[in-house]
Amino acid sequence: MTHSLQNGDLNAQSLLRRLHPLAGAVAFMTILAFWIATVASELGGSWQTIALVKRGIVWGLVVLVPAIALTGISGFLMAGKSTAPILLSKKRRMPLIGINGLVVLVPAAITLAILAARGDFGRTFMIVQGIELVAGAINLALMALNIRDGRRLAAAIRRRRAA
Ligand code: HEM
Repeated sequence: MTHSLQNGDLNAQSLLRRLHPLAGAVAFMTILAFWIATVASELGGSWQTIALVKRGIVWGLVVLVPAIALTGISGFLMAGKSTAPILLSKKRRMPLIGINGLVVLVPAAITLAILAARGDFGRTFMIVQGIELVAGAINLALMALNIRDGRRLAAAIRRRRAA
């Protein structure tokens, strides 16, 4: 694999290699927590609890959005112009993760928090909630694939360095 960073940038490179999986794990865990809290509160919680969860998720976006951005930026910086197939798959998934987040998850979270605060759990809430859960599950799956491929890649790089 060719690195976009040159030898003189070893520190930047090792920083990226630490930052990338950390930001990726935070992004994954945040969406997983949103998903579980949503399903748990809507299955068994009072309307107040659901509204609290929906409001918490909007605050959680402050963590999620930068985490996704940092994961993507650090990934693309490390990958450079490499055309390794495993990296191409990771690169291909990233815009889907980002667009899904910004175009579906963020507006859905805000809409649901507003409706829940009003105690409006009607048809619109149900539809937007359904869309949010599906989009969240898709992002979890795409991120899980990127984590799997990332770990394979990092292991291959380590093996090559050790050889
Ligand atoms: C949400 C999306 C992503 C997640 C959750 C993610 C997660 C990970 C994880 C967990 C690792 C393993 C690190 C290790 O074991 O040390 C990794 C490695 C890596 N990822 Fe990603 N990744 C994502 C997106 C991307 C993108 C878009 C690229 C760019 C093509 C990329 C490029 C890399 C590279 C080059 C490595 C190997 C780092 C090394 O040199 O050790 N990743 N990724």
